[in-house]
Amino acid sequence: MDRRHFIKNLGLAAGAAFTLPRFSIAKTRNANSRVNVAFIGTANIGEMSINGVNADGKSNMVAFCDVRRNALDSTLKKMKKNGVKIPGSASKFTDYRKMLDRVGKDIDAVCVSTPDHSHFKIALDCMQAGKHVAVQKPLTHNVWQCRELDRARKYYKLQTQMLNQGHATDAIRMLREWYDSGVAGPIREVHVMCSGPGWGNIYFKKPKEGFPLKKEKAPSYWDMWLNQSPMADYNSIYEPLSWRGFWAYGTGMLGDWFCHTGDAPVWSMDLYDPESVELIDADCSFDQKVFIPNGSTVKWTFPATDKRPACVMYWYDGNRQPITRPKDFDEGRDLPRSGMLMIGDNHTIETGPRPNISPRMSNSDFWKQFRRQMPEKTIPRVRNNDIYCEWLDAIRGDGPEASSNFGVSSRLTETALLGCLAQRFGGKIMWDSKTMSSPNRPELAAYIKEPERAGWESKAF
Ligand SMILES: NC(=O)c1ccc[n+]([C@@H]2O[C@H](COP(=O)([O-])OP(=O)(O)OC[C@H]3O[C@@H](n4cnc5c(N)ncnc54)[C@H](O)[C@@H]3O)[C@@H](O)[C@H]2O)c1
Repeated sequence: MDRRHFIKNLGLAAGAAFTLPRFSIAKTRNANSRVNVAFIGTANIGEMSINGVNADGKSNMVAFCDVRRNALDSTLKKMKKNGVKIPGSASKFTDYRKMLDRVGKDIDAVCVSTPDHSHFKIALDCMQAGKHVAVQKPLTHNVWQCRELDRARKYYKLQTQMLNQGHATDAIRMLREWYDSGVAGPIREVHVMCSGPGWGNIYFKKPKEGFPLKKEKAPSYWDMWLNQSPMADYNSIYEPLSWRGFWAYGTGMLGDWFCHTGDAPVWSMDLYDPESVELIDADCSFDQKVFIPNGSTVKWTFPATDKRPACVMYWYDGNRQPITRPKDFDEGRDLPRSGMLMIGDNHTIETGPRPNISPRMSNSDFWKQFRRQMPEKTIPRVRNNDIYCEWLDAIRGDGPEASSNFGVSSRLTETALLGCLAQRFGGKIMWDSKTMSSPNRPELAAYIKEPERAGWESKAF
């Protein structure tokens, strides 16, 4: 279904789609309203979205969509068994465009939990149909899409949220308060580590027979699953879940985890718009441009701002350890292979793989003293520390704009995706944020804004 047909089916004149009065379809809500939520992508992490909306306690689940109807049915069966009340009236679809077309009038908000490459168009189609959206991390598959979704947020004035759950916690606010207090001193180095990819787990699988992959009979939903991506031969290694290892659809370990592990330093220190991003080294089993590395080290260089000195940030995957040992790090303690270090001139701030996992000062003696008198709370907290509650409260008009709204999360995702570009294409990539281009690597333009398959094109407005 092309965009014109889609808009027409939504009951809007095709031409009017481009001159719609701003936000005309979004409903005005008040604090007592229940929000009618639909779900696109229901298996695996989609289950977390259903549980999240259920836990809010003030929303209705009105529609579900998954390209794999059997996966949708088994998720709902599992949910009911776990005591989640799924109304019998909730409708079920395998094509989200038909869902918006047929029951869109009953939907206020949509949770998008599909693979990385289809976040952008699905989210944008929902926004253009006037729906508030919450999208899994990383927000998009390329940098242009990040900026486009933020333009859509501003234009349609809808409530948006990226579902990096650590961002709604007290812990990330506390970490930012520590940073703002200046206790660490100027921070010039940040290290973000992730021990995966764990080959052979459900998320990451290496093609046993190598490349090219054997062509298998495609399921009926392959076209829908591919979304904007170019038509490609099917192989069952791609989906569900293990698309993550293929750059065409996923974003590897960095795309999977940076929006959790790197969230606190990026948000606290405004680590956006690097002047360069560089692959220091990588260990690859296959063509690096097609399949993610077994392990890598990536470096971003951020120029000084009026709030902080110049700073470098490193990413490590494949069980690597930071190349710097902070001078205040406990003697004899192993440097972490998973987590985050913000190394200040005076002290180092540390967390596990999410901001809310073991936040601390690295030096144990200082930590004992520091935790007795923490910096003052200055940043408002979120109901239940919960990313879904925050978004749904914002929709009801019962809270501020959600904290991982697309204005914030598109910036975090952009930093992550620049790291992915370095992992995939190697070398040093100079970055000009204003023109969204690389002055020394112009050939990367096709990956900064990827081509969209004919009939699946999309832009904010
Ligand atoms: N927040 C977190 O901690 C967290 C954890 C895991 C995954 N994720 C993110 O969630 C997203 C989904 O990951 P997953 O592991 O559940 O992947 P998955 O391959 O299991 O996909 C989820 C579901 O989406 C369905 N789907 C795929 N394309 C669709 C489409 N066009 N329309 C409707 N349904 C479609 C699939 O059939 C599947 O049931 C990814 O972006 C991933 O990065 C977030």
